[in-house]
Formats: sequence, C-alpha cells, structure tokens
Amino acid sequence: MIKTITVLGAGTMGYGIALNFALAGYEINLFDVLPQALDNALVNARKALRVMVEEDLHTEEEGEKALAGIRLFTDKTAACAEADLLMEAMPEKLQLKQNTFVELDAVCKPECIFASNTSSLKLTDICAPLPQSRKSRSVVTHYFNPAHLIPLVELLPHPDAPVSVLEEVEAVYRRSGKITIRVLKDINGMIGNRIQAAISREALWLLENGYCSEKDLGRAMAFGPCFRYATTDYLEILDMGGLDVWNAVLNLLYKDINNSTDVSALLKSKAAAGEHGWKTGRGFYSYDEQTKAQVMERFLLNLTRQLKASEDYAF
Ligand SMILES: NC(=O)c1ccc[n+]([C@@H]2O[C@H](COP(=O)([O-])OP(=O)(O)OC[C@H]3O[C@@H](n4cnc5c(N)ncnc54)[C@H](O)[C@@H]3O)[C@@H](O)[C@H]2O)c1
Repeated sequence: MIKTITVLGAGTMGYGIALNFALAGYEINLFDVLPQALDNALVNARKALRVMVEEDLHTEEEGEKALAGIRLFTDKTAACAEADLLMEAMPEKLQLKQNTFVELDAVCKPECIFASNTSSLKLTDICAPLPQSRKSRSVVTHYFNPAHLIPLVELLPHPDAPVSVLEEVEAVYRRSGKITIRVLKDINGMIGNRIQAAISREALWLLENGYCSEKDLGRAMAFGPCFRYATTDYLEILDMGGLDVWNAVLNLLYKDINNSTDVSALLKSKAAAGEHGWKTGRGFYSYDEQTKAQVMERFLLNLTRQLKASEDYAF
C-alpha cells in the first residue's frame, strides 16, 4: 500500500507532481540538491493552488492541508528511506538518473517502486545497473507540464515488472484524479509526445513557409482539431466523419504534408540565435517579466477551467 511518495527534483515538473499527490492526501517528501529550488517549488505550488481554489477545484482548506503535507528535504537518505514510491523528476541525464537509482536502491525499502518522468531516455537503460529485484519494481510515469493540471500520465513498466506493479501505480493515479494510459511496447517518446512531435513538424512547416500567421496557427489548433480532440475519443471522431472520407482525404494529403526528418529550419535558426523563448525573453514572441506573468496566469486559469470541464468527458 503506497502512503509515502518521494519526488526527486523540485523544478518545472517536480513541484506540480508533488502538489497533485499532496492534494490526493499522500505524504510527500520533496528533495532537491538546491535549497532555492525547494523554496521556488513552494512558491509555484502556492500560485497554482490559488487559481485552483478561485475556480472551485479545491477549497482553501484542502490547499493549505496539501501544502502542509509537502515536506522539503536536502538530505536524500532522509527523504527516501520511508518512500513507498520514488518519483524522479531530475534533469534529463542518463548517468545522473542511473547513479541516483543505484544509490537509492541501497537506501529505499525493497518494495519501494522506482518511477522516472523521463521524456526521452529508455527505462531499461536507466535501470541497467540496478539489481533484478528493483528492475522489476520500476516504471516510467510520463507527465505533461504543468503536471498538476494536465490529466495524462503515460505509464511504461520495465519489461521485467509484473502487471501488479503497474496496477499499484495506476491505483495511486486513480486516487490523484489523473488519467493514465499504458504504453504497451517500449518506444521512444511514448504516445502523447510522439503525436505532439508529429503535429509540430507540420505546424512549423506551415508557418515557416508563410501559409499562416503565428496567431492563426495557434487559433487553427485550439479552435479546430484540438477543440474536438480534447472532448471525444479520437477514433470515434474518425468514425463520425466517415472512414471512407478520411481514407480519401488522407490519401491525398499524406503526399503533400511535410515528411522531413530534419527539425524545422525556423526552429533551428531561433535556437541557434539564442531565441529560446521565456528563458531569453524572445522566441516566437517577445517577453518581459510582466508579459510572462500574464501569460502564465492565463495559462493556469484556462487549464484549470478545462480540467473542471473534462470531468464530464467520459472516455
Ligand atoms: N519540462 C517538461 O515539460 C517535461 C515534461 C515531461 C517530462 N519531463 C522530464 O522531467 C524531468 C525533469 O524535467 P524538468 O523540466 O522538471 O527539469 P528542471 O531542470 O526544471 O528541474 C530539475 C530539478 O532537478 C534538480 N536536480 C538536479 N540534480 C539533482 C539531483 N542529483 N537530485 C535531485 N534533484 C536534482 C534541479 O536542481 C532542478 O530543480 C526530465 O527527465 C524531463 O525530461 C519534463
């Protein structure tokens, strides 16, 4: 029975993961090598909660209880010794994740499940130096940012893990209000990430080649395909449109849409020019601190409202 969850890394993903579990009533130990990251995590969690409370997703009391339930640690052993589930959200570096798991294998209880939020590394590589007993209690739990609001968590167990391990993790997410999917075979980028990558190839190509403006690209997605994909089973949407029609349309369009294996030239040039988006103040758009705060406020508000609406989407 999972009671205590330790989250390693309190950055972009870690604070939201910790907050989501804390709201579900789990005991949370949040560890980071940087004390400043832990302080920031609490500030971010508080901001996130404010919007959720204002939108009636949680009461103020629930929010305060959740925050009080997140214990901050800079001592790794103390943070992990009692964990039933260990969730790493550390930088995407194979050796760091491997070394940390090996170190913690000696510290954690034998039954503790090791989970990684990796976006691109293979679980079998991360777990390669671990003893068999721990490999068989390991799983990828892949979130989307912001982790406390995006419902999906993609699950990929280690090939040596029995289905009971996956079921234990699924039970935790059910209690936490998340939607999980099982990735049935080991694949780079899981499911949602691969779809996201495929969308970006065509979207950036259309922009780069002058077929639409930046703003209209966003509108085309949000108020077109993504509007219905967010509400209804994807294959049901195909069925409603008619598979004969989809067949004919895709037969024509697949020959025409971008199939480059190279990253978009526009994206490449921006990355090379140091236009990294929020981090540098300039990406596709320009940002000062005030603009960033406004964009984040709207993002969290809209996602919170969408999360509430999605409670009625039964699929
Ligand atoms: N950012 C995203 O949108 C996103 C989405 C899905 C998955 N991921 C994955 O989640 C993981 C974390 O990504 P992030 O964006 O939160 O990174 P981040 O850089 O924002 O946060 C990483 C945190 O880990 C801490 N850290 C560094 N070394 C550590 C150590 N030895 N032990 C514990 N903590 C340590 C850092 O101080 C930092 O606070 C990565 O594997 C990433 O691929 C990220």
